[in-house]
Amino acid sequence: MRVKTESVEDTKNLGAAFAKRLEPGSIVCLLGDLGTGKTTFSKAVAAGLGVTEEITSPTFNIVNIYMSGRVPLYHFDVYRLSGPEEFMAAGCDEYFDAGGVCLIEWADIIEDIIPDGSILVEIEKGVSETERIYDISYIQ
Ligand SMILES: Nc1ncnc2c1ncn2[C@@H]1O[C@H](COP(=O)(O)OP(=O)(O)OP(=O)(O)O)[C@@H](O)[C@H]1O
Ligand SMILES: [Mg+2]
Repeated sequence: MRVKTESVEDTKNLGAAFAKRLEPGSIVCLLGDLGTGKTTFSKAVAAGLGVTEEITSPTFNIVNIYMSGRVPLYHFDVYRLSGPEEFMAAGCDEYFDAGGVCLIEWADIIEDIIPDGSILVEIEKGVSETERIYDISYIQ
């Protein structure tokens, strides 16, 4: 599914609608260059899951955990990791089947250990300043 958003507001609506399909064990990989909209989408998904805490970017601590929604949310940013080994050494792969939803920014860095059946969200900038293309598919 390829969705063009024309504004941050559009992306918020898309993320909230997308969140309705998520269930415990869902893994969502967010790919896209710096500033394309991975965190913006993540915040919208969190809101759609009913998370009431403020969402902050987990750049310095790999994962932030939010328990206030209808399922636990594990929000990762693996930008600073060297690869899957570092992710596993930190015990982060345990969250894949911990009964919550995993959102992983920069998941391409750990792609070798992403389980089949995970959801891929590839984000690109569009022609205007506030246009983004969200391409959503399954990893087989
Ligand atoms: N249609 C849109 N959807 C999402 N963000 C948009 C859109 N139009 C403009 N923006 C802007 O793009 C930026 C996206 O930033 P965001 O932090 O979500 O990106 P990111 O992919 O997480 O970046 P990083 O790789 O640094 O973590 C924000 O400043 C946001 O206001
Ligand atoms: Mg981000």
